[in-house]
Amino acid sequence: MCGIIGYTGNEAAAPLVFEALTKLEYRGYDSAGIACISEKGLEIKKEVGLLSDVDAKCNFSLLNGHVGIGHVRWATHGKVNAVNAHPHVDCKGKIAVVHNGIIENYQELMGRFKGKHKFLSETDTEILPHLIEDFMAKGKSLEEAVIETTRLIHGSYAFLAISSDCPEKIVGARKDSPLLVGLGESGSFATSDPGAFPAGTNRQAFVEDGEVFVMTPENICFFNPEGNLLQKEFSVFKGVPASAGKGEYDYFMLKEIAEQPDTLRCSIEQEKNFFTELAMDILRAKQVVITACGTSRYAALVGRYLFSRVAKKFCDVIMSSEFQYFSDSIDAATLVIAVSQSGETADVMEGVKRAKEKGAMTLSIVNRPDSLLTRISDKVIHINCGPEISVAATKSFTNQLAIFYLLAYSMVNQFDLAVKKINDISHNMSYSMNGTGEYIQQIAELLKDENDFYYIARGINYAIASEGALKLKEVSYIHAEGMPAGELKHGTLALIDKGVPVVAICPNDYTFDEMLNNMAEAKARGGLIIGVSDRYDPIYDHWIKINEVEEIFYPLVTIVPLQQLAYHLARSRGKNPDKPRNLAKSVTVK
Ligand code: G6P
Repeated sequence: MCGIIGYTGNEAAAPLVFEALTKLEYRGYDSAGIACISEKGLEIKKEVGLLSDVDAKCNFSLLNGHVGIGHVRWATHGKVNAVNAHPHVDCKGKIAVVHNGIIENYQELMGRFKGKHKFLSETDTEILPHLIEDFMAKGKSLEEAVIETTRLIHGSYAFLAISSDCPEKIVGARKDSPLLVGLGESGSFATSDPGAFPAGTNRQAFVEDGEVFVMTPENICFFNPEGNLLQKEFSVFKGVPASAGKGEYDYFMLKEIAEQPDTLRCSIEQEKNFFTELAMDILRAKQVVITACGTSRYAALVGRYLFSRVAKKFCDVIMSSEFQYFSDSIDAATLVIAVSQSGETADVMEGVKRAKEKGAMTLSIVNRPDSLLTRISDKVIHINCGPEISVAATKSFTNQLAIFYLLAYSMVNQFDLAVKKINDISHNMSYSMNGTGEYIQQIAELLKDENDFYYIARGINYAIASEGALKLKEVSYIHAEGMPAGELKHGTLALIDKGVPVVAICPNDYTFDEMLNNMAEAKARGGLIIGVSDRYDPIYDHWIKINEVEEIFYPLVTIVPLQQLAYHLARSRGKNPDKPRNLAKSVTVK
């Protein structure tokens, strides 16, 4: 959710900043911009569109200078247009700022400048260069002005500021949004994600909440909120797993769907002793609450069924944006499990912080190593699916499911058995992918003009219906709802009419017979039934065949054709499934 990058050093800044932005684009892609300082002063290029389109329009390489900051935007305040794109500047066009987060009191602060400062955009961010300008006009240095600014602003922020009055210098600050700095041979970098550091940026440090830093080509120093210099350790940069290209695939989403048999096998590379310890924590806890957003929440719902069915341990799942409203019942005897691919979703972070304040133990299930969430949680499980580029989560979902299987089985001392079963399933997954892809593409072509899809399932498969519907909404922009099949008759059945697609996830398990009744109810109203099952039934209008697996493992195989269906519907409607409109992979605002 907005990506920022800054560079000061010996090389031309614009190409390095642009290259880093290509790696940050998953955080936002409605507009982009770069500001550089050269002998001519501050120059900015920014426009609406995907980064490559913005570059084609603006030609970032025309920006000269050895210091630069860049931004990819996911709009929060102010519509998507070139004026609202970052960087934002002060009245004199000398100071530029890029920002990720929300300055909550920006309107009040702007009110103080009424008539004195000229604001051009509708963004909260624009207050920052004007506050810095104001403090610098009173004789403060850029870093002093930034420190003073952080004392006035409320909300979440990671921002970088440059001024043509002090070329070579970048000053940054952070609270609740990710920001790291790195030192390499050619100079200093600051960014939202270590994956954006160029090769050779081998010393890095996290910027902690409330800290301000000053970067020059050779040095980076840190200040606390009181303005005192801090001694900071830089660690040797371990490197982030390289995100390979699309290979033979047209889109990352399809590549990541296809990778799942392999990535699933990586999920089980875990320490048995650690899982035994975690299983004890779960069993001992007075209450267990799982919190997550989006796709990760649907993985948590599968986890809830597994804990109950395998280990007879009840737990609840609370979506992170609602977690605060339940925090009254969280206490030191509670175990809070947070699930997040990115490890930086603001709502999840907020929930975990609240849980910690209440004295609860926190366990996080994450994909991105070294993310903010891993740094604040008591214990961390890595899902090991590698970088996931497509905004719609696919392989991270199946790896999150695998972790819940390992935890549930560890609770009954059967970690090794779960490892074996997941390993076996990974082979079934390959089959289902190779066997069904073309058929699903044909179904997508037939149904591409439908406006509404309903996904129904029962028991452990209900979360898969919800995740299937979410995938469809995200990438094809078709309205879709996932629900427990038994709930259909309590309202939604009123919407089922002739030809309305009803995707029924009905594996040959304990839910099959009742699913047949629910499909019949939909069919009687004209619904077009797409059965996702290993068992044929004449009620299906289309049958997406899956492999037979052991009952509670069906979610790992039923989700794959639903991911494929969403992908093919998006493509048949001419949409780019990797970068759905209005969405971002990493949501760092509440
Ligand atoms: C965004 C993404 C979703 C993701 C959700 C939670 O909405 O677009 O794909 O499921 O955030 O993200 P997390 O990183 O916490 O799993």
